[in-house]
Amino acid sequence: MNEKPKHVAIIMDGNGRWAKSHEKTRFYGHRNGAKAVRSVLEFSIRQEISTVSLFALSTENFLYRSKDEVFRLLGLFNYMLRKEIAALHKEGIRLKFVGDFTVFPEKIITAAKNAEKLTSENTRLTLIVAMNYSGRWDITQAVERYVLSGNDNSVVTENDFSQYLSMSEFPDPDLLIRTGGDQRVSNFMLWQAAYTELFFTPILWPDFNDDVFTAALNHYALCQR
Ligand code: IPE
Ligand code: IPE
Ligand code: MG
Repeated sequence: MNEKPKHVAIIMDGNGRWAKSHEKTRFYGHRNGAKAVRSVLEFSIRQEISTVSLFALSTENFLYRSKDEVFRLLGLFNYMLRKEIAALHKEGIRLKFVGDFTVFPEKIITAAKNAEKLTSENTRLTLIVAMNYSGRWDITQAVERYVLSGNDNSVVTENDFSQYLSMSEFPDPDLLIRTGGDQRVSNFMLWQAAYTELFFTPILWPDFNDDVFTAALNHYALCQR
């Protein structure tokens, strides 16, 4: 049996289909998806998982979803950030955002920075939220920063290079959960998930609960590592 995973990454998929099955708008699905995050955090703390990373918006979502959906998703993110930050801080959760935030409105960039600053000393659980993130973007920006650092070594080691990736200060994920039934990684953590155990479930993200999380942890416990 494996020990519990230290870092669990989650691709939160299926909000749109969940909304459709309830005859509601996609945005209603996203709102209920945001609610599911709270129980994930409480469960993770009880399980003593130290890092949870959530794929909240991919580079592809940002580029190719309708302007209206992206605008509403950013509004929801901004609302959640302001509404939940005090409670997250009180619970000892450290927040970290990854992705290309330069495209976001100034108020979101500022709110995200303030939340990171406020919670930077917390150690109970680290919550990484990936927005306008993709694994290829992460590797590309790392290459750019590596080159700009003026490092003229002709040999590039994985260790040197990986310092420039956006989650370099955190351990790689031990377990990746994807809801919504599709069995692909959709450009999430391409470098970091090299040895990650994968768990796919048909459950749509707003229906994710402790039982599904437990099933994922049981799957992980039985994997040969
Ligand atoms: C995941 O749900 C949330 C985001 C990508 C923002 P979807 O919006 O992809 O929902 P489906 O896959 O269409 O059901
Ligand atoms: C993956 O879901 C991205 C997030 C959950 C943020 P998508 O719905 O965007 O993935 P694809 O398009 O089905 O691969
Ligand atoms: Mg989807």
